Amino acid sequence: MPILTGHARLAGIIGWPVAHSRSPRLHGFWLEQYGIDGAYVPLAIRPDRFATAVRGLMEAGFAGANVTIPHKRAAFALCDSVDASARRAGAVNTMVFRDGQIAGSNTDGWGFLANLRAHGVDPEAGPALVLGAGGAARAVAAGLLETGIRVTIANRTPEHAQALAHDVPGLRVLGWDSRSEALADHALLVNATSLGMQGHPPLELDLSRASPRLAVADIVYVPLETPLLAAAAAHGLRAVEGLGMLLYQAVPGFRAWFGVEPRVDEALRRFIAADLLQG
Ligand SMILES: NC(=O)c1ccc[n+]([C@@H]2O[C@H](COP(=O)([O-])OP(=O)(O)OC[C@H]3O[C@@H](n4cnc5c(N)ncnc54)[C@H](OP(=O)(O)O)[C@@H]3O)[C@@H](O)[C@H]2O)c1
Repeated sequence: MPILTGHARLAGIIGWPVAHSRSPRLHGFWLEQYGIDGAYVPLAIRPDRFATAVRGLMEAGFAGANVTIPHKRAAFALCDSVDASARRAGAVNTMVFRDGQIAGSNTDGWGFLANLRAHGVDPEAGPALVLGAGGAARAVAAGLLETGIRVTIANRTPEHAQALAHDVPGLRVLGWDSRSEALADHALLVNATSLGMQGHPPLELDLSRASPRLAVADIVYVPLETPLLAAAAAHGLRAVEGLGMLLYQAVPGFRAWFGVEPRVDEALRRFIAADLLQG
């Protein structure tokens, strides 16, 4: 941690709880790498104190903050303005304070697409099938739709998929049980469920029916190589891990708060991966 001056730029992550968040390590890595006079701190804020706390941070001169569970929808409601990414996601994960106003955006979809491209996968190559209908699935599906491709979601609870499709125009819905046979017609599969995450059951999927051009992306990043990604590699399919999405989604906030475009590189990946291994 560098020694701060009185001019230090301040930002942080608001969550409840927040101790599990890797964002302070991630932004701290960049602050040190670029020798920036600034700090990024964890902010544990109870849901009923969210609005008061955000206004207090603004008063205290913070440049902005990330927002995580359970505050993303409350942040959306609190912002004075939100951009298209936040409207599409229905949630805000990045707030920038300027002239007493809060501008909100959602960088998850952007982070997902940036990570795909970093792995040499063109998101516009063809139709995408996204598994899940939670907050992450919504951001990923909306980001993919924005590229102009056909996007279909499949979810265990069909009502959740229908509700999401109702909110996000252009999104198609497929039955959960049809997910394996649909792989032949898609260029990209995304697991945006919590299946495959440490402590959760693996995602059951028959990749033998997949088109050979299918790219398989998992947004789960604990473990780094999920059973789905291992199966994709075993079938000779391109596999895209979820850690990169976590790293890239942090880029726009850091740029806005600290004035530097940070790099997502192997050193950062190793640093955060090592941190994840420690639990
Ligand atoms: N890489 C990143 O930067 C990044 C960012 C955000 C999230 N994530 C990861 O993405 C995952 C989802 O996050 P979220 O915020 O979207 O969570 P969420 O809102 O709670 O949604 C969870 C989703 O998983 C599905 N699911 C849960 N258990 C299931 C099961 N046993 N069988 C089938 N489907 C099941 C749920 O289906 P139902 O609707 O049927 O319950 C729902 O679609 C988490 O693992 C999270 O860590 C990664």
